[in-house]
Amino acid sequence: MKNTNPIGLFDSGIGGTSIWKEVHALLPNENTIYLADSKNAPYGLKSKEEIISLSCKNTEFLLNKNCKIIVVACNTATTNAIKELRAKYDVPFIGIEPAIKPAAIQSKTNCIGILATKGTLNSELFHKSVTNHPDVKIIEQIGHGLVQLIENGDINSPEMIELLESYLLPMVEKNIDYLVLGCSHYPYLIPQIKKIIPSNIKIIDSGEAVAKQTKRILEENNILNNSIEIATQTFYTNSDPTVLENILENKEKVFYKNF
Ligand code: DGL
Repeated sequence: MKNTNPIGLFDSGIGGTSIWKEVHALLPNENTIYLADSKNAPYGLKSKEEIISLSCKNTEFLLNKNCKIIVVACNTATTNAIKELRAKYDVPFIGIEPAIKPAAIQSKTNCIGILATKGTLNSELFHKSVTNHPDVKIIEQIGHGLVQLIENGDINSPEMIELLESYLLPMVEKNIDYLVLGCSHYPYLIPQIKKIIPSNIKIIDSGEAVAKQTKRILEENNILNNSIEIATQTFYTNSDPTVLENILENKEKVFYKNF
C-alpha cells in the first residue's frame, strides 16, 4: 500500500463531512475520497443487516479507488457494522462512536444527554459504553427527522427548531451538563442548539478524536503521506450534488455517481 493512496470516508449522507473537515484540518497532506450515500439516508431507521450491507458496498467503492484506510464517518454504521467490516476487509478501519466516556467522566451533575439515531442508541456497542458508567444518568433521545431535514438542506427551518426544542428542553429540565452529539450530521446543528440550551451545558462530538485516531493509525502502519505534492480532495454523492456542495461552502467540487 502506497502512502500517497487516499483516505476513504463514508457516511449515510452529507453529515460525515463534519468528520472529513477535522481529518483534513489535521492531515492536510493526505488525499481523501468522501462518499455520501444520501440516496439511502437515513441509515438510523434501517435494520442491522441492511446497515452492514450498505457499509460493505460503500467500503468496496472506496477500496476500488485504492483507499489505504477507511473512516466510517457515521455513528450508525460504526455501531452496527464495524465488527463485520474489520473481519471482511484487509485495511484499517476508524469508527466513530458517541463520546459518552469524556462526558460521563467530566459531568458534575452526574447527568448527561445524548442525541443520536435509533440505530445507534439500539446497538449493542452503544449499550456496552453506557454500562461502563453506572453512576451517571444518561438521557437518551432519538433525533427523529433531523438527518432527513439536514439532507434536504433545511437546517434553519422552523420545523428543525421545533424538533430540536422538543428533544433538548426535557434534557435541560433533567439538569444535564453535557450534551453528546452521537450522529455525524448533528455538528451542523450546533448554532441552533446553542440558542435552545443554556450556555453552561457543554456540547461534545467525536470529530476531533476521530481525526487524531486516524493520524495515529496511519503512523502505526507507516502509511502517513509525507509527499509535498498538493493533496486532492474528492467527493462523491448518489443524490443532488448541490446539497453536499452547500455544506462544503462550495470550496470543493462534488461528483455525482449512481452507486
Ligand atoms: N451520520 C449518521 C450517523 O452518524 C446518520 C445516520 C442516518 O443516516 O440516520 O449516525
